[in-house]
Amino acid sequence: MKITAQTKICMVIGDPVEHSLSPQMHNAGYVALHVDDEYVYVACRIDINQIENFVKGIRAMNIQGVSCTIPHKLVVMPFLDEIDEVAKKIGAVNTIVNENGKLIGYNTDWLGILKPLEKITKLENKTVALIGAGGAGRAAAYAVKSQKAKLMIFNRTFDKAQALAEEFGAEAHTLADIENVKDSDIIINTTSVGLKNKNETILPKQYITNNHIIFDAVYGEETQLVKDAKEKHAQIISGIEMLLYQGVEQFKLFTGYDAPVEIMRKSLL
Ligand code: ATR
Repeated sequence: MKITAQTKICMVIGDPVEHSLSPQMHNAGYVALHVDDEYVYVACRIDINQIENFVKGIRAMNIQGVSCTIPHKLVVMPFLDEIDEVAKKIGAVNTIVNENGKLIGYNTDWLGILKPLEKITKLENKTVALIGAGGAGRAAAYAVKSQKAKLMIFNRTFDKAQALAEEFGAEAHTLADIENVKDSDIIINTTSVGLKNKNETILPKQYITNNHIIFDAVYGEETQLVKDAKEKHAQIISGIEMLLYQGVEQFKLFTGYDAPVEIMRKSLL
């Protein structure tokens, strides 16, 4: 262990947080770059009612960087000194950087959607079917529209689909219209369906074709959606890629170093 009195602390907060793969991913990056004496990355379970105290703790302990997961991405915002423009548009912060005592909120989730897609296709003029209109859905909508793709949003609660569609310039649908994904090139699932029950899927297999790119933001074991997409010979992006690329961007924000992407990916597999 190379931790000394000069080592800077980074961490992920959530509730629960014990399942998080972020510590192994960031620490693997520090070791690979031989900066594991400069930085260490841990996890803290923070009760949502303690968020204001936690932000005081960042200042008191001079913590270098914080990754925020559920349920902290929105509630942390009022206690920061500045919110970056993109995070404002997405309406959530998944990254806090301590820049010489000033706490700045960023959002890197949208890059977790965009970077893996950009590796296999150009988004401009493509049609994207986004399923889900929660926090991850907002980040995905921002990513898709930043590249001038056409966006259709499908959500169980129509009002939420409609509100997001109006904000980002998209078509809104309920899940009853899910067969309309046939008109899309790319399908992104940002709902939590498949997270707890691996046999559940939000998208009936019959609507997947071999022309589709299927991005399932749910990570962990192979989901039913990913299994169905494989069977239909669609191109697949797993949720691990989203976790990786939102983390790659955070790594740079926390340390100033370019992240060793392949080593961080390996640490997640
Ligand atoms: P996150 O921040 O991870 O996106 P969220 O904001 O709670 O989490 O959003 C969860 C998304 O999954 C929502 O789009 C939700 O649909 P509703 O807006 O109708 O609640 C969707 N979702 C969760 N469970 C679902 C289920 N069983 N069937 C369909 N959609 C579901």
